Amino acid sequence: MEIFFRTPRPSGAIVISGAGSGIGAALALRYAQAGQVFLLLGRRPEALALTAQTLRNRGAQVECAAVDVRDAAALHGVAKAFGEAYGPVSLVIANAGVSYGTRCSAAEDDADFTEIIATNLLGLHYTISAFLPYIPRYGQVVGVGSVAGLRGLPGAAAYAASKAAVAVYLESLGLELRHRGIGVTCIAPGFIATPMTADNPFPMPWLLPVDKAAAKIRKAIDKRRSFYILPWQMWVVSILLRAVPSGWYRRLWPAGLASKPPCAS
Ligand SMILES: NC(=O)c1ccc[n+]([C@@H]2O[C@H](COP(=O)([O-])OP(=O)(O)OC[C@H]3O[C@@H](n4cnc5c(N)ncnc54)[C@H](OP(=O)(O)O)[C@@H]3O)[C@@H](O)[C@H]2O)c1
Repeated sequence: MEIFFRTPRPSGAIVISGAGSGIGAALALRYAQAGQVFLLLGRRPEALALTAQTLRNRGAQVECAAVDVRDAAALHGVAKAFGEAYGPVSLVIANAGVSYGTRCSAAEDDADFTEIIATNLLGLHYTISAFLPYIPRYGQVVGVGSVAGLRGLPGAAAYAASKAAVAVYLESLGLELRHRGIGVTCIAPGFIATPMTADNPFPMPWLLPVDKAAAKIRKAIDKRRSFYILPWQMWVVSILLRAVPSGWYRRLWPAGLASKPPCAS
């Protein structure tokens, strides 16, 4: 069995989905340096252009692709064109995601269920599978999950289920890619101050500023951690929550708690 977790990543491009805002934009900035090639993915070209400009100001070479991660064919096309133009991709960060409140008993939330699972799980898979052919030995794949994926959450079944699936997907991927010498990291943030959490109607303990979160995430990626929960207080809480049997866990949640609203559209 090959031990490669201390082997530095080879040089190559960095691909980040959801790079137009929040964690994706802040992480891109953490990796910005002269000569580093980036490919930024997201649906809004103007948001990607803003991130690209901050990276270029630091001497990076940046390409942007306005693409929906739910569109596998489009992603494969982007990856092929980029791989042929720029060569190896040493790091893929599948970060794009959406979060809305979803009520399991409300049929009108079905579209939100579909969008959340399609973006957070299938979109992550499509992003990774599109770029895998261009990742060399000792390259790395990172997926952004959430502490919300560790246990069920009232009013957020779709989001929690998508992130639970992301964690298991990435664990499976890590097993699959180990023989190819490609590392896989699952990042599971607690609350980070980004557009996604800006309107949350509930308390957010240990809310981290996004640049601080990005610094911690970069450290975990560079250490090739397989699973990283941040901040540390959420790590402690998650260990405790995972130890609670289901029957007791249910009793922890009082009825009528506030949850995120459904998608506005
Ligand atoms: N903030 C937190 O507290 C927190 C906690 C745990 C996990 N996370 C996860 O962290 C990741 C980043 O979220 P964030 O907090 O940085 O929120 P954010 O600022 O809303 O970022 C999400 C990004 O994903 C992109 N995106 C969404 N749907 C997409 C699609 N179909 N195709 C392509 N790009 C898409 C968005 O860009 P476009 O709209 O331009 O497409 C946006 O830039 C998400 O996976 C989220 O679930 C966040």
